[in-house]
Amino acid sequence: MAGAGGKTRQAARSSGGVMLIASILVLSVRSFARAQDFGYDGAKGPSHWGEQYNSCTGKHQSPININSLDVKKVNLPPLVFHGFDVAPKETNLTNNGHTVFVTMDSEVTPTVAGGPLSGVYEYSQLHFHWGDNDTFGSEDMIDNHRFPMELHIVFFKQEYQNARTALNHPDGLTVLAFFFEIAPEDNPMYAEFIELLGNVTESHQSARFDVPPSLKELIAEDLLHYYTYDGSLTTPPCSEVVTWIDFKEPILLSHAQVQAFRALQDEEGHPLTHNFRPVQPLGDRVVLFNTDEMIKEVDLDKDLPPEAGEGVDTNKLDTPIKAAGVGSQSAKDPNDRKHPRNGAPFPSVNHWSLLTSAMVVVTLLFQSTIE
Ligand SMILES: *[C@@H]1O[C@H](CO)[C@@H](O)[C@H](O)[C@H]1NC(C)=O
Ligand SMILES: *[C@@H]1O[C@H](CO)[C@@H](O)[C@H](O)[C@H]1NC(C)=O
Ligand SMILES: *[C@@H]1O[C@H](CO)[C@@H](O)[C@H](O)[C@H]1NC(C)=O
Ligand SMILES: [Zn+2]
Repeated sequence: MAGAGGKTRQAARSSGGVMLIASILVLSVRSFARAQDFGYDGAKGPSHWGEQYNSCTGKHQSPININSLDVKKVNLPPLVFHGFDVAPKETNLTNNGHTVFVTMDSEVTPTVAGGPLSGVYEYSQLHFHWGDNDTFGSEDMIDNHRFPMELHIVFFKQEYQNARTALNHPDGLTVLAFFFEIAPEDNPMYAEFIELLGNVTESHQSARFDVPPSLKELIAEDLLHYYTYDGSLTTPPCSEVVTWIDFKEPILLSHAQVQAFRALQDEEGHPLTHNFRPVQPLGDRVVLFNTDEMIKEVDLDKDLPPEAGEGVDTNKLDTPIKAAGVGSQSAKDPNDRKHPRNGAPFPSVNHWSLLTSAMVVVTLLFQSTIE
């Protein structure tokens, strides 16, 4: 992920007026810009980041390769999304020389809570990582597979006020990560987005959306199945403050849509054809995989209300998502319990998890009755 430069520049732009404040802000923007002096090749490349940024050599870095046979399966509390289906008043797309990022001004600031998180996390920006061709580009890998692109939606913990101060706290940020896969057809939700890339080819160019998309329109539908682990920013200063939430269901874009990202230029005017960091050692970390599978095993899903069988309904993004996803597909698709990539069954379930699942189901039933 990229740092919080956008916010700072925005703050600098909108403050105007008082000269002193303006120049202090300009100074801080300058020094931050210098702190962002990194690249993906040669002397500025990832293997040199540690020379200037100590954290980049830390033991809990991102990205990682996630081995789906090595994850701990869990039933976490539901993720709670707020404001994801609200179209912002104003949305900008900016090329910062490392990626394109999206900032938005919305009546309802999107937040996420629940799942592995404690506390409420507020939207900061979203951006992308991609590669020279469709065979690679994502940062995290699943079973040594790289996807052609990855979306990072960055949130800071609300009590830390903004993304920059959040960097000083181990639970400062969470990133909702989505992988992309190539589909034959264009994704219409990304149409204006892709068009605007042509307006921000050069570093530090910005463009405004005519019809700002809601977050919901830019992400996948299944928000129940995800990997989660503690890691870092994937760009300098590589701060180890990020709770990563990597959703299993990819977003679909056509080859031409992904190709449009590769036409962007970095600060030196060179094509920004790749901007992903190589995977880092997992070390002593355990990756969790959130699933509804254990709930199926205790066979309580028949007691859920009928609408629970319909899968995740993203129209209900303001309600605890998990309730909508519980029990989905279990009847239709017996292979659902196997990982799509290797077909191996998930490891067996212990009694504590069964007890937890039963409790989660009871909680969900309770929630669906009070709705
Ligand atoms: C979008 O860009 C305009 C012009 O640079 C700026 O005034 C505005 O604050 C930006 N808004 C957001 C949400 O980034
Ligand atoms: C993708 O790029 C890599 C690295 O440049 C190259 O080795 C590989 O052959 C390319 N694959 C395709 C399908 O173009
Ligand atoms: C994007 O570029 C096109 C073509 O140059 C121009 O007509 C359009 O106004 C630009 N849009 C924005 C939002 O900058
Ligand atoms: Zn990123």
